[in-house]
Amino acid sequence: MPNCPRPAPEPSPSEITPPAVWQRRRELVQAGVAAGLIGVAAPLRAQKLPAKPGPYSTMEKATPEKLVKEYCNFYEFGTDKEDPARLAPKLLKTRPWTVQVEGEVKKPGAYDIDMLLKLAAMEDRIYRLRCVEAWSAVVPWVGYPLAELIKRVEPTGNAKFVEFVTLADPKQMPGLRASVIDWPYVEGLRMDEAMHPLTLLTFGMYGEVLPAQNGAPLRIVVPWKYGFKSGKSLVKIRFVEKQPVNSWQRSNPSEYGFYSNVNPNKDHPRWSQATERRLGEDGLFAKRRPTLMFNGYGEQVASLYAGMDLNKFY
Ligand code: MTE
Repeated sequence: MPNCPRPAPEPSPSEITPPAVWQRRRELVQAGVAAGLIGVAAPLRAQKLPAKPGPYSTMEKATPEKLVKEYCNFYEFGTDKEDPARLAPKLLKTRPWTVQVEGEVKKPGAYDIDMLLKLAAMEDRIYRLRCVEAWSAVVPWVGYPLAELIKRVEPTGNAKFVEFVTLADPKQMPGLRASVIDWPYVEGLRMDEAMHPLTLLTFGMYGEVLPAQNGAPLRIVVPWKYGFKSGKSLVKIRFVEKQPVNSWQRSNPSEYGFYSNVNPNKDHPRWSQATERRLGEDGLFAKRRPTLMFNGYGEQVASLYAGMDLNKFY
């Protein structure tokens, strides 16, 4: 049983939810089902997202699409792996959608999703995804380097870090009722990490627009870091001078740091990070795979951390 980033067990909703809230929840689910006959039928009608082959793709076999869509971490929709696929397609409204760009930047503003989709050429990038819970997957993402957007909004000389804030709307996200973390979900990167060509502003996967449960309509993917650095359903990008405190670090600083680079030599306080289980290979005799430093992207990113003690800056 994977157990992180995972808070202490909670009472079941029926123990803590007053009847009025249950009623509201029922209305929400009904509304979601009505609006989201779209959502229910999404797998049949998912919109294609054409892209040219991009650099850095691994030659490894992609994890079956069904697994990546059904085994998700998106705590705004619940803490069970199946919750996001069950609820997000019915409840998450992805249009209209704007991303607020603010802080130390010359061109702040609200950037519309349909404009962002056209901002740069879409690329297919097949990346390894390594979750801190010690499972991994190989996912063909569709997007373009985050650097393309960053260059256009022109950060000032004071912008040393980028903070990502994701949607926290209690009307669409039943998981917000549980105080798993301090919502909204916040993540951050150092400016050079955010500008790195591997860091992908991601709009799709498996050749189609992102399913709701995988972070529609746009998310970040940072393949050399644990999966929790890749915030889903992004609504704000803030350029800041000081290192942001990310949600998991805030909730449990002894377990989660700012950098969160995949590192088989630095164990999580509660489990080893030396090996991983690949989604889809969990039969009785399936071997665990050794976890690679920087998730196998060391050639591209190790220089970003030259001289840093990665045991201290985890
Ligand atoms: N983003 C938000 N907003 N909320 C989350 O709970 N979970 C993170 C990350 N992004 C999460 C999130 C974690 S722990 C992982 S491993 C990846 O999303 C999982 O992405 P996937 O479900 O698309 O594989």
